[in-house]
Order: sequence, then structure tokens, then C-alpha cells
Amino acid sequence: MEELIKKVAEQIAAAKHIVALTGAGISVESGIPPFRGKGGLWEKFDPMEVAHINSFMSNPEKVWRLLISSMKDLLVSAKPNAAHIGLARLEELGLLKTVITQNIDGLHQMAGSRDVVEFHGSFAWLRCLDCGNRVKTVDIELSQMPPRCECGGIYRPECVFFGESIPMQDLDRSQVAASTCDLMLVVGTSAVVQPAAFMPVIARQSGATIIEINPEPTPLTGTTSTLLVQGKAGKVMRKIIAEVERILADKRQ
Ligand code: OAD
Repeated sequence: MEELIKKVAEQIAAAKHIVALTGAGISVESGIPPFRGKGGLWEKFDPMEVAHINSFMSNPEKVWRLLISSMKDLLVSAKPNAAHIGLARLEELGLLKTVITQNIDGLHQMAGSRDVVEFHGSFAWLRCLDCGNRVKTVDIELSQMPPRCECGGIYRPECVFFGESIPMQDLDRSQVAASTCDLMLVVGTSAVVQPAAFMPVIARQSGATIIEINPEPTPLTGTTSTLLVQGKAGKVMRKIIAEVERILADKRQ
């Protein structure tokens, strides 16, 4: 493991343009459950029932009660962990250019990452379905479900539900980032939801090295990705960053 960490750190320190693709697993150590696998949200709920746009439109109260309100409680208290902070540090060092995240939790920005594509939108803001008025999710009272705007319209989170398209500008920015990087870090994603899971494929086809950090192999492992550092994102990233800092300090001497 230590040898693998060193190898990955060397590749990171030598890279010119790193892009990260992150998923729910990167926020597990921040107390936010993933969707798939043990303890995942989709063990408790059918995603087509609680996370599909048609379910939301036909019964917004149910989706607010079952999914969105509990997410709101989790997200208001969640803090970035060593993995989010590590990616922000790589950006500060000038090595990493863009984080493409499937997460809606805002933890990358909270950790200090500046160039973040929120591929599946964000939970930070709600938008009225009728008049388009936007409010911060933390500022909304959940005494009535679903919460309503002053105009009477229902608020929805600004995330991408199943059945909705990825906003064109986010898709464009991600495709450009994926096709121009020389190294992609794929952290905490099961890599089964498209089109996000295709970004590492684009990067690989454009000649980039793909490195995964995940406790489990994914469909990318050994096909699209060249290395898998098997472990928890925060733990692994803390070690990688320490090693990258050491390599860069040695170079400066
Ligand atoms: P998933 O829940 O599908 O996958 C989580 C991944 O994180 C798995 O591969 C786990 O092995 C890994 N994991 C678990 N704990 C970890 C840890 N401590 N450190 C690192 N990795 C860990 O999450 P996503 O791939 O993000 O979409 O899911 C993609 C999309 O499916 C989500 O954005 C969401 C969901 O339905 C929408 O809501 C549109």
C-alpha cells in the first residue's frame, strides 16, 4: 500500500493538468451515506420512487418527506473531510484544475475548491416551480411540506433528478475538462450512472492516466483506470497529499 501511495503521489506531482471526478463515497467520511452498497440510500428507497422527476412532480410532498428533508438535516451539519481538503490543496498547488462532482452537498467548495462542476446540480438552493424565485435551502422552514414560495408555488431543490438532463453547460465543461487532463482522479464513485461515468472514458481516450480511490473495484477498474488505491477517500488522500508535498519540497531544494 505504501508503495502504491508513493507511485500515485509521484504521478500527481509530475502531472500538468489534473481533473477529479468524485461521487458519494468521498463524502461518506463526512457522515453522508452513499446511494449504492452497504448502508446506501437505495437500500432503503427505490430511486425511481423518490428521486425521479416524475415522482416529484406527481407527489412532491412524498419526495420532500422521504428524501429531501432528511438530506437537508444531514447536509446542514456536514463538514469537508481530508479527501475534499486534499483536492482543494492540489488545486492550490496548481496541479489540479477542475473537480467534476456528482455530489450535491457543496463540500468541495466548502473545502476551498474553486473550479467545481456540479454535474448533478446542488442542494444549496431551492427554486419555485411557478415563478422561479430562488432561496437558500438552509433558510427554508420545513413546517409545511412541500415548502412553498410566497407566490404559492412549490419549491424544488436545484439538483438533477433521474429523468432530467444534465445542464448543457455542465456537460460541456466536464467533457472539455476530461478531454484535456493528463491525469484523472476518480474518487468514491461506483461509476455506474451515465453520463458522469463516461468522463473517465473520455479522459482515457484522450491519453490521460486514470487513478481510482475507492474501497471497492468498479466497472472502470482494470479497464479504464490504470491504478486503484483501495481504501477510504479521506484516509488515502491524506497520505497521498503528504507524499506529494514531500516530493515537491525535495524538488525545490
Ligand atoms: P454510489 O453510491 O453509487 O457509489 C459510492 C461509491 O463510493 C462506491 O463505489 C463505494 O465503494 C464508494 N465508497 C464508499 N465509502 C467510501 C469511502 N469512505 N471513500 C471512498 N469511496 C467510498 O455514488 P455515486 O457513484 O456518486 O444521482 O452515484 C452516482 C449517482 O447515483 C448520484 O450522483 C446520484 C445517484 O443516484 C442522482 O441523484 C441523479
